[in-house]
Amino acid sequence: MAKSDMVVVENVSKRFEHEGNELTVLKNVSLTVQERDMLCVVGPSGAGKSTLLHLMGTLDLPTSGKIKYDGEDVTRFGSARLAAFRNERIGFVFQFHHLLPEFTAVENVMMPGLIRGQRRGKLKGRAEALLEEVGLAHRFSHRPGELSGGEQQRVALARALMMEPRLVLADEPTGNLDTATSHAVHELFFRLNEARGTTFLIVTHNPELAKLMPRVVSMRDGEIEGDVRKDVDSYRAPSSERPMTQSKSAEIGGDVDKVRAEEE
Ligand SMILES: Nc1ncnc2c1ncn2[C@@H]1O[C@H](COP(=O)(O)OP(=O)(O)OP(=O)(O)O)[C@@H](O)[C@H]1O
Ligand SMILES: [Mg+2]
Repeated sequence: MAKSDMVVVENVSKRFEHEGNELTVLKNVSLTVQERDMLCVVGPSGAGKSTLLHLMGTLDLPTSGKIKYDGEDVTRFGSARLAAFRNERIGFVFQFHHLLPEFTAVENVMMPGLIRGQRRGKLKGRAEALLEEVGLAHRFSHRPGELSGGEQQRVALARALMMEPRLVLADEPTGNLDTATSHAVHELFFRLNEARGTTFLIVTHNPELAKLMPRVVSMRDGEIEGDVRKDVDSYRAPSSERPMTQSKSAEIGGDVDKVRAEEE
């Protein structure tokens, strides 16, 4: 079956004002992400990878150019529509994961659903299952301050998957994790891609992950330097050393304060 275009980045440039100087961080970048793509973005530090991810996640606006989802230019959406769009469509995993300090791991994972007004009972089971998937079954009731950096990262990962987004945008999602846990997380990504057709765009400095990904986009100095598709049959997620069970509010796109008030 032919894959359809999901996100189209069209001639996008991004400039920042810095101490009176204009800094061009993205130069006329064009990129099409298709439904079910498993793609990673690689490149040296400062190449513009995170900036591109933010723009694609509608968290910031390009200086020029368009970003289209299913043919619609989201750079023209108003802020309320954007927040709902993000909450529903996109799962974010950032370098800084912005967990809410006063909520437990399970509640943080449930948060995107709570914001949408979904029932706690239904959300809780799913949140716990996701935490189990990322190896945190023993940390349900810990608050972020009581979790290690890698554990916090995995909570953020579970939260990103909570609403079963069609697209996951991840910035070094396994950057803080040991090899076995990284493998387990990569395997989860491939499994979700296959079972649910979830599209993944992952920024990574991890050459092992890049090797597994069917599509590798490389960036340098604000430009796309290469875009390589490998034969999809040629990748295999490594069997994980640890078998998994089957079982800032912008990231979650909505009004956290409302949920906070309801909790009280
Ligand atoms: N708000 C800003 N104002 C000015 N310059 C910025 C701003 N945000 C990013 N930059 C600059 O833009 C460039 C690209 O940044 P970006 O965070 O996209 O890089 P990256 O490819 O993600 O790097 P890394 O691998 O280190 O995470 C960097 O040189 C950075 O200093
Ligand atoms: Mg970055």
